[in-house]
Formats: sequence, structure tokens, C-alpha cells
Amino acid sequence: MAHTKFHLGYFTKFGATSWPGDGKEFGSQWADGSYHKELAKMLEAAKFDFVFFEDSLIVGDRYANSMELDLKNATLSPKLDPLPLLPLMAQDTSHIGLIATASTTFYPPYLLARLLSTIDSLTKGRAGWNMVTSSERNAAMNFGMDKLLPPNERYDIADEFVELCKKLWDSWEEGALVADTETGVYVDHNKVHTVNFEGKHFRSRGPLNTLRSPQGYPVLAQAGASERGKQFSSKNAEVVLGMMTGGVPGMKAYRQEIRDRAEKQGRNPDDIKVFFLTPVEIFPEGGERPEMTEAEKQSAFEHNIVMASSSLDVDFSQYDVDAPVPQDITAGGHTSALEYMKKAGREEGKSLRDLFSAGKGASGMDFSGTVEQVAEKMMAVMDEVGGDGFLIEGSGYNRQLPDLVNGVIPALQRAGAVRTEYEGTTLREILREF
Ligand SMILES: Cc1cc2nc3c(=O)[nH]c(=O)nc-3n(C[C@H](O)[C@H](O)[C@H](O)COP(=O)(O)O)c2cc1C
Repeated sequence: MAHTKFHLGYFTKFGATSWPGDGKEFGSQWADGSYHKELAKMLEAAKFDFVFFEDSLIVGDRYANSMELDLKNATLSPKLDPLPLLPLMAQDTSHIGLIATASTTFYPPYLLARLLSTIDSLTKGRAGWNMVTSSERNAAMNFGMDKLLPPNERYDIADEFVELCKKLWDSWEEGALVADTETGVYVDHNKVHTVNFEGKHFRSRGPLNTLRSPQGYPVLAQAGASERGKQFSSKNAEVVLGMMTGGVPGMKAYRQEIRDRAEKQGRNPDDIKVFFLTPVEIFPEGGERPEMTEAEKQSAFEHNIVMASSSLDVDFSQYDVDAPVPQDITAGGHTSALEYMKKAGREEGKSLRDLFSAGKGASGMDFSGTVEQVAEKMMAVMDEVGGDGFLIEGSGYNRQLPDLVNGVIPALQRAGAVRTEYEGTTLREILREF
């Protein structure tokens, strides 16, 4: 039986992706971009659609009200800005897409539109922008605000932000640059326009002072989970990032909902690709999960609980981690993950240590095993979901990378489930190949 053909993205950050797993040498080496340049080459050889950089603008300090364990475990920081890294990664590659995160809450639209246009030119049409509204109070305080506006208002602002960016990107028509030596005209002024944007939140005269970039706009990506978030992504995004919570039925429903919402807004749903974020765990030959040492277990637990403190806005240091998950924990941030944890405590007697030692996999989806087993599991899920791709969680898995690109991907290619060659050259063309 023919498999559903799917796309591949690789999720990472411009930081120490695998501390302490990959040791001291890697720990200090990534900041000059050399690691990610090599990564881009490896992923391009495996014909991934894109590398994706998440980002945030804080040093975490929610756990025990201290930065100590965030910094010790390299959870949220240190992190460098991924945008300047994209052109560096483009230098030694020719096709792989390069997507980075930037916040609509903190950037002025004109500056970000200009920056992304520049990066799309520098990468010859391979740039993408993950549009986030940011969710951390600490980030707000870094920009002189006491707190963030409520999520729905942040999305209202983001909608207008994107509308303005598109007008600015369109302020240069295709063919505006003529460089005609006979007439002496470099740019045809009839093809460059002011935008005179007057919104509720932003005003801008325009035009942008860049050239029109190879793709016109960078590819727009977003991960909406709430009602308002899904409305935003189905209106604006071309790459939508989904979670695998809810298993296959949940994935299917999420993808269908995004497609339906997009169609209602006059878009072609096939112009949107939904990528599901997933870890993979590849076992060495022999097919058994390697036993973790006690020190590795403790390190993973500490990393996970400190990370969760910042992302859920809960100080987990206050609780007994070996008792069933306390039912009186309240969160400042996303609550669905916390509800899931409390339920595991209530119904299965799980402790915080159980949950945070288990590592990832809260989705209930299991992509672990030998190279062949992982490939089979991915294909089985995608055959049922019907598309469009997986965003493979890279951080923390550097040692698995050779098995992924030299083992799992070739197995998927042999089965006809992923591409063996690029057809397009820009990121948008590559995403629309199938
Ligand atoms: C794969 C994935 C990547 C994300 N990357 C970021 C990121 O880099 N920075 C950030 O602030 N939020 C990030 N988010 C959070 C989303 O932007 C969004 O806020 C979240 O999915 C919740 O959806 P909602 O805003 O509709 O509630 C990411 C979410 C997912 C699923």
C-alpha cells in the first residue's frame, strides 16, 4: 500500500541543545553558529523541508524564585537570537528552509518586516517567520511593561501586525528594480508605493526601503492551540505547528479544523501544511532502550521540572515531588498541561517525579525503537492522519542525529513516505511540492 507522503521539519533552538548530554566541548561551541551550520547541511542531505528555531526573551527564574537552576541546566537560557543565524546556515546549503521565531508583542512591525525581507534575500528565498505573541511576564518586564495584555488582545494586535507587514512587503512590486544603464534608472518609482497604514494599534507610512525579496514574504508559521490562536493561524499561517495531544483522532481533528477555518476565510487549504511536533527516540542496534544512570535520571528530572516551572508559571519547588501530584497547584500560564498532570496524580497516583522523569511523550504517541520501527510508527500515524508533516524535536537528541538522518529518513524514503529530491528552490515552493 502506498503511504501518505509527508513533510519534515526539525525543531531546535539557538542554544546549548543537549546539555549536559553532549559534554563540555559542544557546550561552549554552538555560539559561533558552527554547530547549526553543520546541522543544516545534514538535514538538507536528508531532504528536510526546514529547520525551525523556537525563541523566547527571558532567563527563567520561576523555580524557587531563582535563575540558578535555569542557568545550571541551560533550559530557557542562554539563547542567542536565531534571525542572524539563518543567513549563516544558508551559506553552505541550497534548499533547506530556515524558520525563526520573532514576537509580534515586542518588535515594531516596520523593523521586523525589513529584517525578514533582508533575511529572505540573504537566504535566496528560504526564510520563514514563526509568529508568536509571547507568553512570559518576564519578557514584558524586559520591554518596560508590567505585564502582558491578555492572550486574545495580543492576537488582535498580531493580526494587525501581520496585515501591516504584508502591506510593507508589497510596497515594492515585482520588477521594481530595473537597473537600466541606458536610461540610468535603477528603481522604477512607479512600482514602489507608500502604504499609509492607519490601524488601531499601528500606523506606518511606508514604503519599506528594502528590495522585494525572492519570496515576496517569508513563509509564515504559527502554532495556535486556543480558539483565538487557531483563528489567527488559519488566517495567516502557511506552516501550522500542532501538538500530538489527543493521539491520532486529535491530530486529525486539529488538521481538519485548521483547513476548514482557512477555507472559510477564502484560502486554499492545501496552501497550509500542518506539522506535528514530536520527539523520536532511536535505540541502538539490539533494539532496547539504553538504561539511564541515576545521575542522568536526576539531570533529566531537574531539567524538566525547571523548564515546566517557567513555561507553566508554577513554582514546583514548593511541592513534595514524591507524593501524588498535589491537586491545589495553580498556574499563571497554560493550564491544560497542568490539568493533565493533576489527573495523573488523582487517577494513577503519579508524582511530579514520575511525570518529569518520564521525559516527553505526554502525547501518548510513541516514536521509539530501532530505525525501522521508528520509521514504521511514523508512517502508520501519518497514513491515518492524512498529512502534512512531522516537526521532529531535536533538542536533547544530538547523539541520535546520525541515526535519524542516516537511518530513519532513508527508511522513510525507501517506503516512498518522504521526498528523495527537492523540486522547488524557495521554501514556499518546497512546502507546496505535495
Ligand atoms: C511547536 C511549537 C513551537 C512554539 N514555539 C514558540 C516559541 O518559539 N516562542 C513562543 O513564545 N511560543 C512558542 N509556541 C507557543 C505558541 O506560539 C502558542 O502560544 C501555543 O501553541 C499556545 O497556543 P495559543 O496561543 O493559541 O494558546 C510554540 C508552540 C508550539 C506547539
